Amino acid sequence: MPAVIVLGAQWGDEGKGKIIDACTPYAKHIVRAQGGNNAGHTIIIGEEEFKLHLTPSGILHPDTQCYIGAGTVLDLAVLLEEWKMLVSRGINLTGRLWISPHAHVIMPYHKLIDQLGEKRKGSQAIGTTGRGIGPCYADKINRIGLRIADLISPDVLKNRLKGILAIKNDELIRLYDAEPLSEETILDELLQLRDSVKSHIAPVDLLLDLGLKNHENILMEGAQGTFLDITSGTYPFVTSSNTSAAGICSGAEVGPTRITHTLGVFKAYTTRVGNGPFPTEVPDSESFLDHHKAREFGTTTGRKRRTGWFDVVMAQAAIRYNGIDSMALTKLDILDELETIKICTSYLIDGKAIVGLPVTPEEWEKVVPQYESLPGWKQSTADIQTIEELPKNARRYIARLEELCDITLTILSVGPARSQTIICQNPFFIQAVH
Ligand code: IMP
Repeated sequence: MPAVIVLGAQWGDEGKGKIIDACTPYAKHIVRAQGGNNAGHTIIIGEEEFKLHLTPSGILHPDTQCYIGAGTVLDLAVLLEEWKMLVSRGINLTGRLWISPHAHVIMPYHKLIDQLGEKRKGSQAIGTTGRGIGPCYADKINRIGLRIADLISPDVLKNRLKGILAIKNDELIRLYDAEPLSEETILDELLQLRDSVKSHIAPVDLLLDLGLKNHENILMEGAQGTFLDITSGTYPFVTSSNTSAAGICSGAEVGPTRITHTLGVFKAYTTRVGNGPFPTEVPDSESFLDHHKAREFGTTTGRKRRTGWFDVVMAQAAIRYNGIDSMALTKLDILDELETIKICTSYLIDGKAIVGLPVTPEEWEKVVPQYESLPGWKQSTADIQTIEELPKNARRYIARLEELCDITLTILSVGPARSQTIICQNPFFIQAVH
């Protein structure tokens, strides 16, 4: 019963969308388990580019069943816009896209509080996407969230919303000096949105379990990345969900004993959007890449991504936290022109090597990354079809990452197109099913 997790092993934007797309031909079921429309997956098929925020990337393969799992938070207006875009581009959603009734709904006050809260934090702002993710998860944990299941009956919804909105309006008025929101307007909008998604609500846990019992492959796609994890990430500069393998299991309601392989997606260098620690960051003025050529702007917010060298200390932690079995390495081609490529192999704090990762932002601030330098290959890798065709120094770079991280490369990406993906071993260890 193979269930494979594909997750980001850095700070998100590792190119998961493309790797998930490459793994989809081997899977019958694809589930997105956590996060919301803070995520953005870009998939390029021929001349077409798709940017998805909530719908599993697997939707672009016509024979898959796709699920938005219990651990997600959904802005229904955004979800419907995305569905409209997909349908207008010929993608059929009927009978193959399902939402868990356990998923939480991002409400208008969540977005407002996210944005007002960030402003209030001033220099301590996280740099959130402003999509209401944190406040929605906070209400979930505080047990004052609204779930997809709560939308089914207008009377139940009205009653729940009344109690919750009283608390939220209090927060808006007292804490943020903002205008209260109208219960009637929210209710009307929610019911309209509910009507459009109703036929897609289904018990995702049971459907996935049935798939497993039928020996059908399940691909569980992560959103964001390991170091944005609320528990193990660079707190407080993190997102509000568990982006780790364990969080993906919980969010998909698939038990960890069912997971047969966890594929970690690493970019050949490192990027991060938003604020927070980044030991191997290279200042923009000295950047080793051209942001436009490298497409290093956030899919969701359009923000320029911060960039730096590959960090083995963090990679080792990501492998530990998630139990990563093998590595997908993306965007190797972006390093094609470089004379020298650096890899961070350890951290010093106050002149002493540290074991594991720092904890507080203050400790992160003190990290002095230690590098080794490898020679670049100074030729294009964009058209290579096998690992053997790679220039010698590119193979050396990959082999060194494998050695330092003690992990095997199974997928390599050398450009945005589907054809620029080399699958040495697919994570299901089978022939494609469609
Ligand atoms: P939030 O998830 O909107 O609360 O933002 C918290 C932090 O996570 C910010 O630094 C965001 O830039 C970052 N973030 C959230 N989602 C993603 C993602 O999908 N890729 C990269 N960074 C993300």
